[in-house]
Amino acid sequence: MIATTALRAETRRATPPDLERLRADFPILRNVKVNGKPLVFLDNAASSQMAQPVLDRIIQYRTREHANIHRGVHYLSQTATQAYEGARRKVQRFLNAREEREIVFTSNVTDSINLVMYGYGRKFVGAGDEIILTHLEHHSNIVPWQLLCEEKGAKLRVVPINDAGELALDEYEKLFSPRTKLVATTHVSNALGTINPVKEMIATAHRHGVPVLIDGAQAAQHMPVDVQALDADFYAFTGHKIYGPTGIGVLYGKAKLLESMQPFRGGGDMILSVTFEKTTYNAIPHKFEAGTPPIAAAIGLGAALDYVSGIGFDRIAAHEHALLEYATELVGDIPDVRIFGTAREKAAVLSFYVGDVHPHDVGTILDQEGVAVRTGHHCAQPLMQRLGVPATARASFAFYNTFGEVDALAAAIRKVQQLFA
Ligand SMILES: Cc1ncc(COP(=O)(O)O)c(C=O)c1O
Repeated sequence: MIATTALRAETRRATPPDLERLRADFPILRNVKVNGKPLVFLDNAASSQMAQPVLDRIIQYRTREHANIHRGVHYLSQTATQAYEGARRKVQRFLNAREEREIVFTSNVTDSINLVMYGYGRKFVGAGDEIILTHLEHHSNIVPWQLLCEEKGAKLRVVPINDAGELALDEYEKLFSPRTKLVATTHVSNALGTINPVKEMIATAHRHGVPVLIDGAQAAQHMPVDVQALDADFYAFTGHKIYGPTGIGVLYGKAKLLESMQPFRGGGDMILSVTFEKTTYNAIPHKFEAGTPPIAAAIGLGAALDYVSGIGFDRIAAHEHALLEYATELVGDIPDVRIFGTAREKAAVLSFYVGDVHPHDVGTILDQEGVAVRTGHHCAQPLMQRLGVPATARASFAFYNTFGEVDALAAAIRKVQQLFA
């Protein structure tokens, strides 16, 4: 064991100096000590940290630009409206959407999926119809569809996975029937890191005339997403996992589909005219943004997308991939540690089990060493059942993580083993 550790120390890769410098943009990473130890933050798939330029943009809005939007003729209202609508244009560019009005601000990806369920599903799905999901889904992309199925008498069909955590694509094709109304799939599995071949999946669905919703909660922060190249019908992501604030999410939808949908929530800003007899609705995307939206959070998200785009996904992906490879090797070499999720295409997520120790105990001991990982079922209980475990421990990496932090993770896992020996 000592020899292996020494060898690892020798072969430890150096974090690229430019990324090392970017780490300094994240105040929380230097401000927080856990038990007197430096924070090793490896829970980025749950929520990532905000860089100083994003925090600065929110403070600027809060201290110089805040008013309600779309309503006032006064200076501040117009300033806030421009900033909010500017953030929408940033999202449009980020996803390469054809039109600005195809970007709906929601409160998170869960909200985006529920919007599609209410707006599209309740209108177009009926008794006996079918919705295709995968075995990799987060509860956010299962439960809304179950609610719809209960209400309408529709059915879920589920794409199985192999032991590596990859979708069985031949089975996927077989699930289509004339009753299929929608495919809803995650782009990247939050629990295993599997990157699904969504472009091919969308092409297959379109051959059957079926629209596809992609849950991009774990993808948008790791890889470029081009909704036109994918030909995605709906694409959803969430601000707080892409170095932005909580309380803001995005739903991209093709204009034609969004126009065909019924509103999800009623209230101010989503109407053109209201009488007690009849209400007419605003144009998209405003039809889906009832009430005062999370203005500061949308502007913060815009700043986060600028920040990420400024680094570039080639650099982000190269470093995260190197971290994942190193972590897989280092943690995988520890006797009695099982790694879950060995897909060929994987994002920077490492799910593992240490001997027979319950993941919550693993997480607690890691925390004593300053290492933050997620433990539990990761809101993917059907996937845990398929893997035959109630939970896993999960380390998830961001571009600001270092090889030294992977060493800290491995050392903390060895400590768990010593304590439970
Ligand atoms: C794949 C996936 N989908 C959906 C969600 C839900 O995200 P939010 O809580 O921001 O709505 C998550 C969060 O972990 C996720 O990983």
